[in-house]
Amino acid sequence: MSLVYRPARAQDLERADAIVVASINDLTQRHGFGPMAVSRPPNFQSFSLKDDAGGLWVAEDADEILGFAWSWVRDDLWFLAQLFVSPGHQGRGIGIELLKRTLEHARKSGASRKALITFTFNTISQGLYIRHGLFPQFPIYNFSVARELLMSRLQGAQFRYVPLEETASHLHSLAQIDARALGVSRDKHHRYLINDSATRGVMLCAGDDHVGYVYVNSDGHIGPLAVTQDDGIGAAFTTALALAAESGSSQVSAFLPGTCDRVLSLAVEHGMRITIPMVLMATRDFGDWTQYLPRNPGFM
Ligand SMILES: CC(C)(COP(=O)(O)OP(=O)(O)OC[C@H]1O[C@@H](n2cnc3c(N)ncnc32)[C@H](O)[C@@H]1OP(=O)(O)O)[C@@H](O)C(=O)NCCC(=O)NCCS
Repeated sequence: MSLVYRPARAQDLERADAIVVASINDLTQRHGFGPMAVSRPPNFQSFSLKDDAGGLWVAEDADEILGFAWSWVRDDLWFLAQLFVSPGHQGRGIGIELLKRTLEHARKSGASRKALITFTFNTISQGLYIRHGLFPQFPIYNFSVARELLMSRLQGAQFRYVPLEETASHLHSLAQIDARALGVSRDKHHRYLINDSATRGVMLCAGDDHVGYVYVNSDGHIGPLAVTQDDGIGAAFTTALALAAESGSSQVSAFLPGTCDRVLSLAVEHGMRITIPMVLMATRDFGDWTQYLPRNPGFM
């Protein structure tokens, strides 16, 4: 049978996730990091497919999915959430073909800025992205710590907060915070997270002002987190650590950009360890993330 590239359908998403998990674990094991990915329900993929189907593609041979690409667009930003080829089929041009189709999604959407997060130790993906005009900007480290250790070290200024709600007032504040921190509006992404039962979101307050937000997952993972001013990022992160410790998960983790000195120092002071080094690759006009911590390499 011959290889075809076609738009992804809802019924592909679980099988595509299996390829992604196998491909990540193959890569991380080959580089000595051990397996790190586990299958999860493809909720954000389903949301993206319903929201804008132009960014999700599969490579298929007979009935077997061999590769999956998924991009989303917000304002002028195109973000490549996933590009994965099944371990036994890499190096045959499948990744290039899938990437071409998602870049066409950027062109059709009028997105001028492009970005993604990939593994620092994957020479192939980085070479592929450089070839398509996306260049390494800064490292992003996944940090992790045992909850018990974190609890024994938890200290430092924190923000007062209120639970995030899908109200016009909160959505307006979230849009303003994102405009200051990222230059991108992510209204639908916030609605998605606020309605995700496994995620807790809070608005950070200073007096009557909404100065940032934090989301924490029930598995102790922090992010996204954003603040309107970079001098608030330390207290925002400490607040997030306290919320993550409250989640009851045995581990607390976060993706921390190499540009956030204050947060990196706080992470190390709180006993957090780097588990996976990643890198943000983007067109040159993407900013330096001193007020933003991403959720993961797919959500950004
Ligand atoms: C990264 C990945 C999607 C690429 O797909 P693929 O089908 O294996 O790659 P292709 O055969 O289409 O393209 C290979 C291209 O990568 C580039 N490349 C490969 N090795 C390279 C290196 N050491 N240095 C620089 N560029 C390199 C070249 O441009 C090469 O094309 P060429 O052989 O025509 O010169 C795939 O290998 C994969 O799934 N890897 C593991 C998971 C992963 O890291 N995914 C990216 C997450 S964002």
